[in-house]
Amino acid sequence: MTLHRTLLSALLLGILAAPFAAQAEGDWKKGRIYYRMVCTACHMEKAGEAISPTSKTMAEWAAYIKADKHAKGKDSLKYYVSKKYRESIKNSNKAAAKFIDDDEAALMEDVKAFVIKGAKDGDAPAKCS
Ligand code: HEC
Repeated sequence: MTLHRTLLSALLLGILAAPFAAQAEGDWKKGRIYYRMVCTACHMEKAGEAISPTSKTMAEWAAYIKADKHAKGKDSLKYYVSKKYRESIKNSNKAAAKFIDDDEAALMEDVKAFVIKGAKDGDAPAKCS
């Protein structure tokens, strides 16, 4: 009985944890390039400082990306990985030009993989954003 219960919990945990694992399956290396060259470039200019992946925990990043409310809710985070945004800055931004044909959702996953890896409690906390 106890064994069954243990097996059952393990099975349930596996099922529950699976979607979270799948969420971080983007290409973090590509995400890092995009984050540093697009997100950070603007943060330095407009927010006056870099916003580091270590500023949030993995769970906070996941919730932040899911909520899609950027700059204190003023705009959408998705917009900044969109083709439209990449097109608008491609002449002055090499990363936007390089990833111009990327799928928007996939690029968001790449950025997500990087910030989650570099989160406060991530695999490789990344101070340098
Ligand atoms: C065109 C400029 C610009 C781009 C591009 C940009 N941001 Fe921002 N971001 C800002 C500004 C400005 C703030 C600060 C807003 C404030 O404090 O009022 C900010 C704030 C943030 C914050 C702090 C929390 C919040 O939303 O207020 C996070 C996290 C963030 N940005 C993530 C990102 C990510 C990830 C990307 C790239 C996919 C990105 N930003 C691209 C301008 C930009």
